[in-house]
Order: sequence, then C-alpha cells, then structure tokens
Amino acid sequence: MNDVSIRTALPADVPAITAIYNHYVRTSTATFDTEEKSVEDRVEWLTQHVGAYPALVAERDGGVVAWGTLSAWARRRAYRHTAEISVYVAPDATARGVGPVLANALIARAREVGHHAVVSQIVHENEASLKMASRLGFEHAGTLREVGRKFDRWLDLVLMELVLDADSGQTSPAEKPRGARVERGSEWGTGS
Ligand SMILES: CC(C)(COP(=O)(O)OP(=O)(O)OC[C@H]1O[C@@H](n2cnc3c(N)ncnc32)[C@H](O)[C@@H]1OP(=O)(O)O)[C@@H](O)C(=O)NCCC(=O)NCCS
Repeated sequence: MNDVSIRTALPADVPAITAIYNHYVRTSTATFDTEEKSVEDRVEWLTQHVGAYPALVAERDGGVVAWGTLSAWARRRAYRHTAEISVYVAPDATARGVGPVLANALIARAREVGHHAVVSQIVHENEASLKMASRLGFEHAGTLREVGRKFDRWLDLVLMELVLDADSGQTSPAEKPRGARVERGSEWGTGS
C-alpha cells in the first residue's frame, strides 16, 4: 500500500529533490549526469517545469520521498506533443510502489495537458525502471548502443514509449500543449 500523496513541487522542495538526484548522479547510471547539481541550479530547473511540463513530488509523513517531471523531449516543433518522463525515488523509499504512483500522476497530467506520447529513456541496466515502465504500458521503442559512458563503461540507452491517444492525430489536437510555457530540448539521455 502507498500512503504517499502527490503534489506539485514547490521551491521549498528543491533541497530534497537535489539530494535525491545527486545520490543517483554519484552512485548509479540511472542518470547520465556525472556531476552533482547545485541547489541553485535546481531552483532554476524548477522554474522551467510548469504548465505542460510539471514537476511533482511524492510526500510521505511530511517529507519528500520522490520527484518526477515531464520535460520537452526535443526542441524541434514537430515534437511538441511528446514529453519525456523522469522519476527518482529516494534510495530508502524504493521498491515500495512509490515510483509507479508518481509516474501515473505524471501520465495523467500528460493526458490533461494534451501530450500525445510520453517517452522514457532508460539505461539498459536499470531493471527497476524498465520494469516500472513496462508495467505502466510503455513499449520498447529501440535501443541506442553504447551512447553513454559512466564509471568507465559504455552504456546502452533503451527508449520506452507510451502513446496516450492513438486517435488524437484525427481529432485536431491542441496546436501546442495547454499551459506550455517552455519548449526546450532536454539534455539527451537519461536524466532529469
Ligand atoms: C525506477 C524507480 C523510479 C521505480 O520506482 P519504485 O518505487 O522503486 O518502483 P516499484 O516499487 O514498483 O519497483 C519496481 C521494481 O523494481 C524493483 N526495485 C526497485 N528499486 C530497487 C532497488 N533499489 N534494487 C533492486 N530492485 C529494485 C522492485 O523490487 C520492483 O520489482 P519487483 O516487483 O519484481 O519486486 C525507482 O526505483 C528509482 O527511483 N530508482 C533510482 C532512480 C531511477 O532509476 N530513476 C529512473 C531513471 S530512468
């Protein structure tokens, strides 16, 4: 059971968000970032996650145990109905179903704002993330071989995709996702 609540991330959450992310920057290939982020950097990052590209947190007992985002997947205009999803659960809170609750909230938000496809970029060895994506209905869309290098080894990037509304191409989708304030290409690869 999950006693977590999901809400929009606030500036006050940034230290917790940063600590969770930096743990994985330091210790894992879950993110292709190799340098820790400063709180100041994440404050700026949070200002870019509004409207169609929200940042949400999962809270338990008043503390942030996970965060997740929708980001613009790529800069060019024809990609405007596609979002990238990222979810990071605090290391002492994984494997208890928090990630899927947060991911489902992000997918629901993606539908609400009019995104058409959600993409997840997952390093090949991230079994927890691959499992979560499959269980949420994401399908394998390809693997890029040896595009990442961290901890002195080559890393493959698995692309997983969830198409939200197969008919929306026929039903005049919004010209841009509602509430979109930023359209910025994400840093390519698995990250935030
Ligand atoms: C991937 C992630 C978001 C999944 O969220 P979660 O809350 O752990 O998801 P679940 O509890 O549903 O667990 C999913 C599966 O992964 C397994 N798992 C999760 N964390 C694990 C860990 N640290 N070690 C081993 N297995 C783990 C779970 O046991 C479960 O498998 P099972 O049902 O066969 O037992 C979360 O584990 C996480 O934040 N991991 C580190 C950061 C990361 O990889 N983010 C995604 C980047 S693409």
